[in-house]
Amino acid sequence: MSLSREQMLVEMGISPIWVLRDREPAASEDPLQAGPETPAETPVALSEAGPRTESPAIAAPLPDGAATQGLPSIAALDWPELARAVAGCRACPLGEQRQQAVFGVGDTRPDWLFIGEGPGAEEDARGEPFVGQAGKLLDNMLAALDIARGRGVYIANAVKCRPPGNRTPEAAEMAACRPYLERQIALLKPKIIVLLGKAAVHAVLHDDKALGSLRGKRFEHAGIPVVVTYHPAYLLRNLPDKAKAWEDLLFARRLLKERATPELP
Ligand code: URA
Repeated sequence: MSLSREQMLVEMGISPIWVLRDREPAASEDPLQAGPETPAETPVALSEAGPRTESPAIAAPLPDGAATQGLPSIAALDWPELARAVAGCRACPLGEQRQQAVFGVGDTRPDWLFIGEGPGAEEDARGEPFVGQAGKLLDNMLAALDIARGRGVYIANAVKCRPPGNRTPEAAEMAACRPYLERQIALLKPKIIVLLGKAAVHAVLHDDKALGSLRGKRFEHAGIPVVVTYHPAYLLRNLPDKAKAWEDLLFARRLLKERATPELP
């Protein structure tokens, strides 16, 4: 059943007046699609490029700086190579326990990049981020902004493999995964990044301050504006904070618009 916009805002516990923007045509939701900066004639078959495929080309994890050992650095990988590298990664113990790495999903030429913490059980089983209850709320948040996974948005996580028991990923695990996230950001070139919760803040901004103190501020990563908000799973347990998350998304949207139309001097 599809919800009306008003129903979505009600679902989020908020109901602002909201004006739609014009949209670009949708790109594919398929994370295995040739990604940004991937030439059309890429020699990597798309069917081999996905997170569920172990690739003999990149069987072992590629630590950043691997170029010095004759392997391409993660920072030099194109999108399909990066997806393969993540699928085969054993850079930290999470790689031993996962069913599959969860690379990300969405529009590979996005305006928005949302970054969460790490896959849970459902994501681990399905190979897609945010497919559980928190994901439903995230989808409603996106819909309220008139965007959706695969339409103006890419969704990724700070760590690509499920931490056992859905615990918070450890700093070392996030550090091991960071080169992949960095390369995703560099290839996707989003116009705005929204960090969902503390783990994403740690991974991107290297900041461990209380989340509440980081909200409502414009940060920057690689020249891209960054906004911090609550993780959807937290919002499911703290319903009154949904309204704050909505404020954060409106703030992010303002920054995105400012970027699209810089003020004249
Ligand atoms: N929580 C996250 O942070 N990421 C997911 O993919 C699912 C739940």
